[in-house]
Amino acid sequence: MAEPRRFSDLPDYAFPRLRRLLDAHPPGGEPLAMSIGEPTHPMPSFVGPILAAHLDGFRVYPPNEGTPELREAIAGWIARRHGVRIGPEQILPLNGTREGLYNVAMALCPEEKRGQRPVVLIPNPFYQVYLVAALSVGAEPVFVPATEETGFLPDYASLPPALLDRVALAYVCSPSNPQGAVAKREDWARLLDLAERHDFVVLSDECYSEIWRDAPPEGVLAAAAALGADPERVYLFQSLSKRSNLAGLRSGFVAGGKAGIARMLRLRSYAGAPLPLPLQRVAEAAWADEAHVEASRALYQEKYRIADAVLGGLPGYRPPEAGFFLWLPVGDGEATALRLWRETGVRVLPGAYLGRGSGDKPDHDNPGRGYVRVALVAAPEEVRRGLERIRDRL
Ligand SMILES: Cc1ncc(COP(=O)(O)O)c(C=O)c1O
Repeated sequence: MAEPRRFSDLPDYAFPRLRRLLDAHPPGGEPLAMSIGEPTHPMPSFVGPILAAHLDGFRVYPPNEGTPELREAIAGWIARRHGVRIGPEQILPLNGTREGLYNVAMALCPEEKRGQRPVVLIPNPFYQVYLVAALSVGAEPVFVPATEETGFLPDYASLPPALLDRVALAYVCSPSNPQGAVAKREDWARLLDLAERHDFVVLSDECYSEIWRDAPPEGVLAAAAALGADPERVYLFQSLSKRSNLAGLRSGFVAGGKAGIARMLRLRSYAGAPLPLPLQRVAEAAWADEAHVEASRALYQEKYRIADAVLGGLPGYRPPEAGFFLWLPVGDGEATALRLWRETGVRVLPGAYLGRGSGDKPDHDNPGRGYVRVALVAAPEEVRRGLERIRDRL
């Protein structure tokens, strides 16, 4: 039987590509992984005891919409962090944000927009699930550069009005992975105004928002409330993976308009996988506690200072505003990643693997091509050693 064509031009995922690029060569020093964005800070100490106290919850099917206590804990976090009060029917717990960022397209993207194939806007470079979500629903993915010229966020307002009229969904990532840029109130205002004028929905992936340098980034819910935007136009995706160093818990949520959340919940009752009850209890405790988040953030802030001290003199070095990645301009990202591995043992990710070019020479205008992404996830001293090796070879 033939394979589905809808995914046939997907490149291999970034990490198998990286292994193919590097693993045929021996490392030029002690291997140091700065390629994967997997938190390594301690997870909160309450995880084990809460899990143990609720083990019998594994016997039963968990509620699809999440326990009332979990939804309340999330609503409480949103009120404290974003100053916005929403009801439990506006929140849906997820098995990590990745599945939600995928399934939201299934639930919300129409088959047609104004009689034409719908468009899904995607920042470029981008977190790869946005693309697969668009392809899965038969929409046209449109990649919009998020480069130095645009402040490392996509300038959706610069697109032609006829194209904007076809847009059904627009993904945004703030703080952005990989660049660490943060959308400001005026960015949200322009985007929400555009969404209203062209009748589309904004999907805001904010899973790095609790790792910040100077001030907590404003998220889409706070901006939408302040600007009086239609609540059905905005959906926040948030996660415990980075905030609480619980990537393996697979726990996040989506919050937004009542009608859209109801559509997501309906789809979830047919085809979704709710979070097991004992894990929902852990998630509930994690959203209610900020002490572990502050401790983790302090460690990241120490690593920002290390990065500034070690790399501050490099041409083009830009301190990230938030998140745990450096997005370093290096000329040729792939050649640099290979050279750093062969000469120093440091593993970084070529930026092109997170971006997309156009036409038949896929990488010639890929906006990630001239960069490498460096993850500041290891302990501060290990990060310092890795960055010093990078500095000495660039
Ligand atoms: C931008 C972005 N969005 C979403 C996710 C997915 O996070 P989760 O672990 O909640 O599925 C990641 C994970 O790396 C990410 O970088």
